[in-house]
Amino acid sequence: MTQMVNLVPLIEKKKVGRSLTDAEIQAWIDAVVAETVPDYQTAALLMAIRLNGMDFDETLALTNAMADSGDRLSFQGYPVLADKHSTGGIGDKVTLILAPIMAAVGLPVTMLSGRGLGFSGGTIDKFESLEGVSCNQGPGAMQAMLDRFGWANAQATERIAPADRILYALRDVTGTVDSIPLITASILSKKLAGGAGCLCMDVKCGTAAFMQDMESARELAGNLKTIGDMGGMNVRGVITRMEEPLGHAVGNYLELLEARDYLKTCPDRPLMELVFALGEVMLAQGGLTNDPGDARARMRKTIDDGSAMDRLERYLVFCGAQPQAMSRLQADSLDKLPRRAVTAERSGMVHAVKGRDIGYLMVDLGAGRKVRSDAIDPLAGLVLARHVNDRVERGQVIAWLYGEKGLREDPEVDRRIRACFEIGEARDALRQPVVLHAF
Ligand code: URA
Repeated sequence: MTQMVNLVPLIEKKKVGRSLTDAEIQAWIDAVVAETVPDYQTAALLMAIRLNGMDFDETLALTNAMADSGDRLSFQGYPVLADKHSTGGIGDKVTLILAPIMAAVGLPVTMLSGRGLGFSGGTIDKFESLEGVSCNQGPGAMQAMLDRFGWANAQATERIAPADRILYALRDVTGTVDSIPLITASILSKKLAGGAGCLCMDVKCGTAAFMQDMESARELAGNLKTIGDMGGMNVRGVITRMEEPLGHAVGNYLELLEARDYLKTCPDRPLMELVFALGEVMLAQGGLTNDPGDARARMRKTIDDGSAMDRLERYLVFCGAQPQAMSRLQADSLDKLPRRAVTAERSGMVHAVKGRDIGYLMVDLGAGRKVRSDAIDPLAGLVLARHVNDRVERGQVIAWLYGEKGLREDPEVDRRIRACFEIGEARDALRQPVVLHAF
């Protein structure tokens, strides 16, 4: 008979800021995976951790307990396997562009990715926005992906990092995402279980990130590096700016389309700059090249010769996309899908686009979940028609809305979109680099 763990003393302890022991953390995670503890008690403990934090030893114990909550993957025939992860941003479709590029350059990549989390989107929801695609892939399928096109991507399952699968979905809808220990354990448990030796982290920092200032971003980066390295991974990465959405599109299918466009045209925009910056780190970690110029030339070549796009298409087909869905992906474009315009009510210069508020609005419009059982509208989302430092005249379009709810006339939605745009007198906002710090 299954032993029930009493979580109340742990909640009481954390409520007053005391540390949990390794054994208590292990017992909690075992109970989460065995489903012998009710969600409401785990949610209460998550909130107590969110409010009172965890010290380094607790974070380490939580990471290890979560990483060992299922099987650890290992793949035959790959001495070097790379992985990349973002701590979560708005319009962050970097993985959809970067992973196929890395595979095409010749660096094998394996990843366990997540779904939407709080106001931020997730890679798995983006891939699965294409009809037929399922990222619920087991170890055998991941090995086959690596062997066929050099890139395996899947979600946490009942067998691989199951504790994160459960806690992640609960954190998404309980306001417990923005916690350094919980983010550290969530990410590293997947990464340690995922079988790659190198991890390149993109730690987002800013008003549209879970880490809103440099101090907390550095603390999270430090945790990820120290605990990841202790677990035998080579962790490096960058802290990057996250204020206005990355690229034009926010929303699952819209971001997949935008990623496809980036793989076709390689536009000279901050999103591509971020892709290249992360790619440089990955290629150095993987021992392919330490020369940033060479790294960029190799990445660029995979876009020009179509090999990166080929990897993306083969991945989607492997995960279940039928020929009809693939033809739609090739034929659709952001300006041809049904959409509704929201216009500016004043003229001026765009000083800021508030990514976090856009993220919350997108959840309300069906691009993310408010409760665990919510279904996603794959088409829900928005495309920005204006970015920071663009000039806009009264009556001109600032954003396009998509998806069932977005297409409905709704003055409150329009008001919220307009409130995301700070439009002021003509002046250039301070342009900050995308990459703020490398570690
Ligand atoms: N990505 C994850 O996998 N987990 C988090 O908690 C945040 C970002």
